[in-house]
Amino acid sequence: MPDVYATIASADEAVQERLAEVLELRAADPQQRAMLETYLEDLAPVGGARVLDLGCGTGAVARTLAALPGVGEVVGIDPSSVFIGQARRLSEGIAGLSFEVGDGRALGLPDGSFDAVVLHTVLCHIPEPERALAEAFRVVRDGGRLAIFDGDYATSTVAAYENDPLQGCAEATIAALVHDPWLARRLRRLVSEAGWRVTGMRSHGYLETTDPGYSMTLVDRGADSLVGAGRLGAEAGEALKSEARRRADADEFFGHIAYVSMIAERPGS
Ligand SMILES: C[S@@+](CC[C@H](N)C(=O)[O-])C[C@H]1O[C@@H](n2cnc3c(N)ncnc32)[C@H](O)[C@@H]1O
Repeated sequence: MPDVYATIASADEAVQERLAEVLELRAADPQQRAMLETYLEDLAPVGGARVLDLGCGTGAVARTLAALPGVGEVVGIDPSSVFIGQARRLSEGIAGLSFEVGDGRALGLPDGSFDAVVLHTVLCHIPEPERALAEAFRVVRDGGRLAIFDGDYATSTVAAYENDPLQGCAEATIAALVHDPWLARRLRRLVSEAGWRVTGMRSHGYLETTDPGYSMTLVDRGADSLVGAGRLGAEAGEALKSEARRRADADEFFGHIAYVSMIAERPGS
């Protein structure tokens, strides 16, 4: 199954609404918040910076950006009108924050009009990510900055041992949700080729053992999609979901997702 985010504007409205909930839940997760705060410290916007949140979803990162003392204005762009509607509702009353429907690969925004661009778990979902990086480069001023945060989803795991059948579920979910799970490996080259000067990269880890939330959804969604594709019988799908819960209850569950962040600068003229 292809990545639903890659063609989000044509996805069923009910699907977009369910994903909008997932994005807000993920953003509220303390480990996710800590990773965001860490790389935004690396970005360090100052002096009333004008920041573009490209692929903003429901605007969770944009709201965090708007609250930073060095940020003056935030614009969020996303192809999903459902996400943008939700982003507007959730940001009512927050000054300096606006949202527009748009494609990050063809922005209707003037050259050099931002001090920074943020791409938070977006590039791995976009076919032709180099076009989004080129657009980000175009709309940032000379000396402006880019922050990218993305999953190294190829290494996502719920396996407790070699050939663990739960891992097949996680891999099925990643295949359905992530256009390019290997993007993080090519990120440095892609960003440099778009003209940016990379100034730093960091790795981040997301680990769930007790009370796994997101990792459990990797198992459940994968089991459902394998059953839906006829690769697994319904009973086997339910058995894998039960096994994941048994492990969680027995303190035997292990779910891990590695993320990378990168800060880059548009060289001055
Ligand atoms: C996993 S979500 C992340 C959303 C948000 N950045 C966050 O972290 O909550 C991926 C986002 O990429 C957006 N997206 C997909 N294709 C895009 C494109 N061509 N240009 C800009 N955003 C895109 C999706 O609509 C979705 O909101």
